[in-house]
Amino acid sequence: MKKSKHFETDAIRTQTDRSSQGEHSTPIFETSSFVFKNSEAARAAFAEEIDAHIYSRYSNPTTDEFIEKMCLLEGVEDGIATASGMSAIFLALTSHLRAGDHIVSSRSLFGSTHLIITNILSRWGITHSYVDIDDNEAWEEAIMPQTRLLFTETPSNPALDLADLEFIGKLAKENNCLFVVDNSFASPYLQNPVKFGAHLICHSSTKFIDGQGRTISGAVLGSGSVITEVRSLSRQIGPTLSPFDAWILSKSLETLAVRMDRHCANAQKVAEYLDKLEDIQSVRYPFLPSHPQQELARKQMKLGGAMISFELKGGPKRSLRFLDKLEMLSLTPNLGDTRTTITHPATTTHSKLTPEEREYVNVTESLIRVSIGLEHIDDILADFEQAIRKSR
Ligand SMILES: Cc1ncc(COP(=O)(O)O)c(C=O)c1O
Repeated sequence: MKKSKHFETDAIRTQTDRSSQGEHSTPIFETSSFVFKNSEAARAAFAEEIDAHIYSRYSNPTTDEFIEKMCLLEGVEDGIATASGMSAIFLALTSHLRAGDHIVSSRSLFGSTHLIITNILSRWGITHSYVDIDDNEAWEEAIMPQTRLLFTETPSNPALDLADLEFIGKLAKENNCLFVVDNSFASPYLQNPVKFGAHLICHSSTKFIDGQGRTISGAVLGSGSVITEVRSLSRQIGPTLSPFDAWILSKSLETLAVRMDRHCANAQKVAEYLDKLEDIQSVRYPFLPSHPQQELARKQMKLGGAMISFELKGGPKRSLRFLDKLEMLSLTPNLGDTRTTITHPATTTHSKLTPEEREYVNVTESLIRVSIGLEHIDDILADFEQAIRKSR
C-alpha cells in the first residue's frame, strides 16, 4: 500500500497506473475478464504465482483503485468492494464464523442488519446476544466462551446512539474476538474505528462515500490476514461491485472531506435550531450538549455528522403531517446525499421489526430521521420552519 499523505490528497491522488493513452482523469475498466499473453501466463495467474487480474469477480483495476483509497482513508491494509452495504456486513459477519459461534451486538442497528443477526445467522447455528450500545458492563457480561465476534454500528441508525469504540476494542482483544464496526454514518473522514481496536470496518458506500445517491455499494476493510478470509468467501459467492460504480465512488471520494465539512456544519445548525423549538419533544445529534454521549462523540468523531433524529410534540400523526408539508426536503429512505433526505423509520427502514424490537432499538413511532444535505442552510431551515408551522 502507498504511504499515506493527508486525507484529502490520498482521496484525490490515488489512481491506477496511467494507460498508454495518457488520460488525466481515472479511466473505467468496464471488462468482465482480462487477456493473457500466452498459456503459461494464464496458468501462472490462476496458480497465484504472479499478481494479475483474471476476472472481475476476483479483481478489477477500477475496483482496486476505490479500495486502495478506502484503505488509506481508514488506515488499514486491505479490503474488498461489494455490491451493497448489506453484502459487506454479511461477508464481515459470516467469513470468520462457524456453527456454534456466538456474536455480541449492539441492539441499535440498521433494520436489515438486525434481521440478518436475528433471523438468518440463527438458521446456521450462529447465536447472538444483543446489548444496549452504551452499556459497557452489558457488553462485558454478554461475552461467553463461544463468543467470536463483537458487532456495532456507531452512530446507530436512526437513534444516533454511540458505542464506546475504545472500550469494545479492548474487550475484543482481551477475549480474542473479532471486532466489526459499521462506519457508514460517520464515514472515514469523521471516524476511524481501527484506531480504537476494530478489526473489520464495513461501509454502505451508498451513503456519504457516493454522496449523490447514485449507487448501491459497500466495502469491507481491515488488516491483511483478516481480509483474506473475507476475500476468499466473496470470490466464490460473488457480491462484486461493478467497475462503473467503483469509478463513481472513487471520483466521489475526491470530494468527501469538503462535503463532510459542509454536511456537518449544516447539520450542527439544524440540530441547534430544533433543540430550541417549543414544538420539539426531543432531538438527537452527537455534538449537541443535550446528547447523553456528547463527550464520547467528541472523543471518537471529528465532527457531529450529517444525521439528526427528532420527535415532534403531538405524537406519530404530527410527525407524518410534518413530513407531508415539506416542500424541498426529499421524503426518501437514502441518506448521505447532497440533497437533504428525510424519513419516518417506524413505517419505512425499520418497519420489518416488530413493535417490541423497534422499542428496543429506540425507534419510537414519532421519530423522524434526517440526513442534512449541502443546500444553502437558510433554505433547509426555511423548509423545516414552514412544515413545522403547518403541521401544528
Ligand atoms: C448504517 C447502515 N448500514 C448498512 C446499510 C445498508 O447499506 P446498503 O443499502 O448499501 O446495502 C444502511 C442502509 O441504510 C445503513 O444505514
